[in-house]
Amino acid sequence: MPLEQPSRVHELSAEEAAIHRRLDPARLPEHVAIIMDGNGRWAGKRSLKRFFGHKQGAESVQYVVETASRINLSWLTLYAFSLENNLRRPRLEVSFLMKLLSSYLTSNVGRMNDNNVRIQYIGRIHELPPEVRERMEWAAEETCRNTGTTLTLALNYGARSELVDAMRGLAREIEQGLLRPEHLTEQDIQRHLYTRDMPDPDLLIRTSGEMRISNYLLWQIAYTEIFVTDRLWPDFRGVHLLEAIEAYGSRNRRYGGLGEVGDEPGVLASKVLVPR
Ligand code: FPP
Repeated sequence: MPLEQPSRVHELSAEEAAIHRRLDPARLPEHVAIIMDGNGRWAGKRSLKRFFGHKQGAESVQYVVETASRINLSWLTLYAFSLENNLRRPRLEVSFLMKLLSSYLTSNVGRMNDNNVRIQYIGRIHELPPEVRERMEWAAEETCRNTGTTLTLALNYGARSELVDAMRGLAREIEQGLLRPEHLTEQDIQRHLYTRDMPDPDLLIRTSGEMRISNYLLWQIAYTEIFVTDRLWPDFRGVHLLEAIEAYGSRNRRYGGLGEVGDEPGVLASKVLVPR
């Protein structure tokens, strides 16, 4: 966390607290990103229109945000509306999602403040309808002094278009003589991403069982651990976030190296280098 936060673990449900007790504090993610999928299927299974699935999905958002804030998760980034959703879904569904976002913000900013949650956005926000942008700016302004979890909503977001926007920024710097192409580094690309002020996700959760990344944070997830659950997003709650975090705790992150065992020089020598 940017600031030391008081513990709010006593606010977890009994089920959440049971999982939380099993977590190793040294193996907690700092940043969790989620692909929220399955709203339509959730509604379909109940012979309801897709809109009901999205409405229920918005409820899940708030449950998960509050659990994240109770465990002092620093960063939570939710894929709420992709560029492809915007281009390929029926206009009626797109306008419903926009209204749902506005009403979600209006109804939940008070709770965000109660939970010390700061809201921000990534994506081509300028292409969203002005009245939605106005609500988004209001919510960001209302919560900007909070120091707990940063909730980032990816809206009209696509990772490839984020990279295009970053390349445009870099091309301008080169054009102005501020950067030479042969000096370009990964950090230069990083500082032009929408996520420039955020750490990369440690854990990416995808609901509804699909094994896809769907153009989400492609640069940022280079070394992210992936957790896929069959649970549909409208059924996802804080307890499921904690289950995913527990699974993350048992992963051996290697970043292309040899991981925890191989990091110890003596072990490396005996296991890898010494011929029998
Ligand atoms: C996928 O379900 C989900 C989305 C289109 C985006 C997520 C939207 C929400 C959770 C609702 C509101 C969000 C906020 C922040 C208020 P889908 O329709 O693709 O499901 P399907 O694959 O089962 O059809």
